[in-house]
Amino acid sequence: MNSGEDEGWDSAELERAGALAADLRALGGADSRMVAVRAPGRVNLIGEHTDYSGLPVLPAAIDRSTIIVATASPAREIIVRNTDPEFSARRFQIEKAIPAYPVGDWANYVKAGIQGVIDHFGSRGLAETKLRGATMIVDGRVPVAAGLSSSSALTVAAALAFMKLNGLELAPLECAAMAARSEWYVGTRGGGMDQAASLMGRRDHGLFIEFNPLRVRAIQMPAGAALVVADSCEIADKSGGVRTEYNRRVVECSLAARIIARQIKLEGVRTLGEVVSATANWNAADLIAILQAAAPPRFAPDLVDAARILGVARDALVDELLGAGAMGVKLDPSAPLEIFRRARHVLTETERVIRAAALLEAGELEAMGALMNASHASLAEDFDCSTARLDRLVAAARKGGALGARLTGAGFGGSIVALSRATGVERIFDSIDREYYAPLGIDPHGKRAILHAGAGASAIDLAAA
Ligand code: GLA
Repeated sequence: MNSGEDEGWDSAELERAGALAADLRALGGADSRMVAVRAPGRVNLIGEHTDYSGLPVLPAAIDRSTIIVATASPAREIIVRNTDPEFSARRFQIEKAIPAYPVGDWANYVKAGIQGVIDHFGSRGLAETKLRGATMIVDGRVPVAAGLSSSSALTVAAALAFMKLNGLELAPLECAAMAARSEWYVGTRGGGMDQAASLMGRRDHGLFIEFNPLRVRAIQMPAGAALVVADSCEIADKSGGVRTEYNRRVVECSLAARIIARQIKLEGVRTLGEVVSATANWNAADLIAILQAAAPPRFAPDLVDAARILGVARDALVDELLGAGAMGVKLDPSAPLEIFRRARHVLTETERVIRAAALLEAGELEAMGALMNASHASLAEDFDCSTARLDRLVAAARKGGALGARLTGAGFGGSIVALSRATGVERIFDSIDREYYAPLGIDPHGKRAILHAGAGASAIDLAAA
């Protein structure tokens, strides 16, 4: 998070903020203090479905942002409007535990950001009754449900606006950790990649992000490289059915970690990241072999057999893996828990991410592209989160000369990212227009673009009315 004047804001964004401020004043009741926040979406270059295992990722913030302009209000409530008429205005009270709207409501991400701030500062002794309310206008330009983290951009922007109006500050890394946990509010057990990328982005840089503790190393994008992002137009709505699939993956990975940990006598392990950090000179092949020798490749979702292999009581395992109450994960009783293939993806992907960071740093674009291709294959074959359409789009990008192409984000729809030389972009566009968009009758305009790595989120004061 930068807070220097205009830092990270381009002129179009400043103009958007100015227009939103005028709208807010026109609504009346604007307090003398007004703040503007920008929070970008992200594209993940490589490191998919590794963050919630505490393993590294390599995304970049993008030059598409959500902007919130907000003013403090005397009432202890949040009033939030959206410039997109599809998202109607919402009003809710600031409380210790804000009740969520029904699943799928856009403003749950605003609530998530606000609740995160209440929880974080509440645990440090600041009562929510001391926090001022706000009137906010949201203008989102990160494509929605396209795998580019529009949801995290909104959560981060809402949290920053609420903090700034209340005079609360946090170091960027702390803020990223807070925002990552905040999004659990919407019921998705995400890792911290999206929020960290949105907060820590740097222009023209990829971000090598490690977790526990959160660390970010910015890596300059090699000169002459271009990132092409193309939307499959297959909706990847994380608040809908995809949420069940996503959360199941989180459970599967944790189960795999516990089995490996038991074999190599590590106590209290919950994630593959903890296994990796406790194993000197680890490598994916060895850990996968240990898992394969210790357990069948999949378990019934009732967890009876899994508990037996782990030597723990089934009910305790259910509580630990799924949690309880409204925030608990619901498993599909007809879908087995795939342990072996999920772990194989996560562990080999981790090796790819580490190599990719070094390759990007060295400007080795061909080799980096090959890793992106391998990542996609692993996501499709082992993680089962690609789709026929994503596979076709990836193939079309490669046919057009992309150095590498893969789905980006959670998958199950959404976008792909392709690595190219700047000079090769037009050929890739031609290929995906012809091979992917045309047969589906989709106008490619605005669906595929070169995205630039952009600056991280920042909050600024706007002049009083
Ligand atoms: C979603 C989540 C992230 C990450 C990706 C998959 O975008 O929000 O935390 O898990 O999926 O890599």
